[in-house]
Amino acid sequence: MRKVALIAAGTLLAVACNKQVTTAHPENEGRDTQTFADLSKAKVKHLSLDIETDFNQKMIIGSAQYTFENNHADEIIFDTEKLTIDSVVLAHGKKTKYTLGEQDSIKGQPLHIEVSKNDTLVTIYYKTSPEAHALQWLDPAQTNDKKAPFLLTQGQAILTRSYIPIQDTPSIRITYDAKVKVPQGLMALMSAINPKEKSADGVYTFQMRQPIAPYLVALAVGDVEYQPIDHRTGVYAEPGMLKAAAWEFAEMGNMVTAAEQLYGPYPWEQFDVLVLPPSFPFGGMENPRLTFATPTAIVGDRSMTNLIAHELAHSWSGNLVTNSTWDDFWVNEGFTVYFERRIMEALEGKDYADMISVIGFQDLETSMRNIPEKYTSLKVDMTGANPDDAFSDVPYDKGYLFLKMLEDRYGREKFDQFLNRYFSSHAFQTMTTEKFIDYMKANLTNGEDDFVQEWIYTTGWPKDLKKPTSKLFDLAEAQFHQAIENGRANQPAKKVEISTKSTNEWVHFIRLIDPKKHTINDLKYFDEVYDFTHSNNPEIQTAWYEKAFLMKYDVVNPHAKAFLVKVGRRKFLEPLYLALKESNQMALAHDIYKAARPNYHFVARNTIDGMLNYKGN
Ligand code: BES
Ligand code: ZN
Repeated sequence: MRKVALIAAGTLLAVACNKQVTTAHPENEGRDTQTFADLSKAKVKHLSLDIETDFNQKMIIGSAQYTFENNHADEIIFDTEKLTIDSVVLAHGKKTKYTLGEQDSIKGQPLHIEVSKNDTLVTIYYKTSPEAHALQWLDPAQTNDKKAPFLLTQGQAILTRSYIPIQDTPSIRITYDAKVKVPQGLMALMSAINPKEKSADGVYTFQMRQPIAPYLVALAVGDVEYQPIDHRTGVYAEPGMLKAAAWEFAEMGNMVTAAEQLYGPYPWEQFDVLVLPPSFPFGGMENPRLTFATPTAIVGDRSMTNLIAHELAHSWSGNLVTNSTWDDFWVNEGFTVYFERRIMEALEGKDYADMISVIGFQDLETSMRNIPEKYTSLKVDMTGANPDDAFSDVPYDKGYLFLKMLEDRYGREKFDQFLNRYFSSHAFQTMTTEKFIDYMKANLTNGEDDFVQEWIYTTGWPKDLKKPTSKLFDLAEAQFHQAIENGRANQPAKKVEISTKSTNEWVHFIRLIDPKKHTINDLKYFDEVYDFTHSNNPEIQTAWYEKAFLMKYDVVNPHAKAFLVKVGRRKFLEPLYLALKESNQMALAHDIYKAARPNYHFVARNTIDGMLNYKGN
């Protein structure tokens, strides 16, 4: 009944308003179109990995042994991407037949393995390709200390299959153990129980006893050391930046406590952060027990620690209660952004939380303008698409606005109780959009669902939207207009130290520059007063270089180029290359990209290759 009613309402809306359409439907519930695995035949339960990292050949070589649930099947199917399969063995060393199917440009290749209906154990001997999408092999020069090479993996969304043959769908959960051999002198870390010191022989063993989705299996290898923050939190980083990292993230222990006070006990025992080299393509990645983080969050004043709060929040929303398919990605990210802002409000106060909500809203406005209409609903339909192509701020900030709307409508107290129970009653389970809606109707809204169609299944902006506001940003705005006036009145430029405001205030200040209203002279005046061009804060640099590119204020060009060659965080790369494209500076874009591309991870290269129509190597 519910489903029929929803579809009817969707059709009406689409007719009434030609900008809003329904692109995703409840009937797709739980259907993962990004995997070859057939879980009705056989489903893996445990992974036992035995691998060696070869930094010379840029290859991982070894075996993945699986215990699986067998539903009288004659085959088990895994996802692979550019893997070489050497042999496949069942229990008691019995070799079995296997075939790699046709290559799909998004999903890779299915690995079909013959089994008989009593088999529950299979071992796959394999090696990875030097081009494996998940893996980034870094030369010493690409690290902070420039002394040792580094390897990092990025599994989300569908990249794990490029370094482990696996049933690569978030709709299953597995436990795992691993033996990893790495060059002597390097430490190996995983999303598991981790060492705190280097081993003498380069061999490390790991265990993850709690079941996790395959995209959360993660590995990093490098010259890193550990510094604890409290009894269950700490930081891993290259020795040269360990102190700075531990200082920047010193609030981690308090963050975990604040999170627990909101939505229940921290479920993974340990919460550590690994600070990666600057080419890591994301701000953070919520690998269980060991968040991977960009060094660009270390800005010296602890103003970007919401990134850590975000990845910590995934310990509940995402890692404990997991989106069932990538069509339900908002169930991971929307809840996490809401939770992140609640942690920051508890720790830093409402003014801080308001600032990041406004920044998020501005990013959402940009996404809504730029991405295909069909990806502007919360639930999406990615049949035949790469989950990465649907990636935008919509699941994050439209998701946040939806949950904030629920909070406002039903009251914070009731909403917090609801979320608390939502996490505990679905712990270690997967969640579809529709399962959430049912749970919400039964436990929060008393059956009300008048807003569901519009907020979850309809593209574009919901009608009754409450825009976030920030007092501190209002102040920054007044100062911005004053500065423009001063500059234009030829007032002598009095140098102002950046440290007079926090990172987010400066980002907001710079975002107020309007290439249609303001001039290169205004930018010059800002540089005289604030010296944005020489900033070392990646958030400020990105905001400033973007405006400078758009307005062809070419004083920044060598600094922006150095920044783009060093940093590989996609959130910074995208607006900068896009600004060059939009200001018709394609030659400059290609010049910078040619120098920078070898430093970027596959996911960043993939995005920028497409944007710049880049065909070279
Ligand atoms: N899980 C995401 C990163 C991700 C999403 C990787 C989809 C691959 C596919 C992570 O939690 C995230 O959202 N990171 C943000 C942090 C920010 C919202 C504070 C980032 O990387 O910028
Ligand atoms: Zn996230």
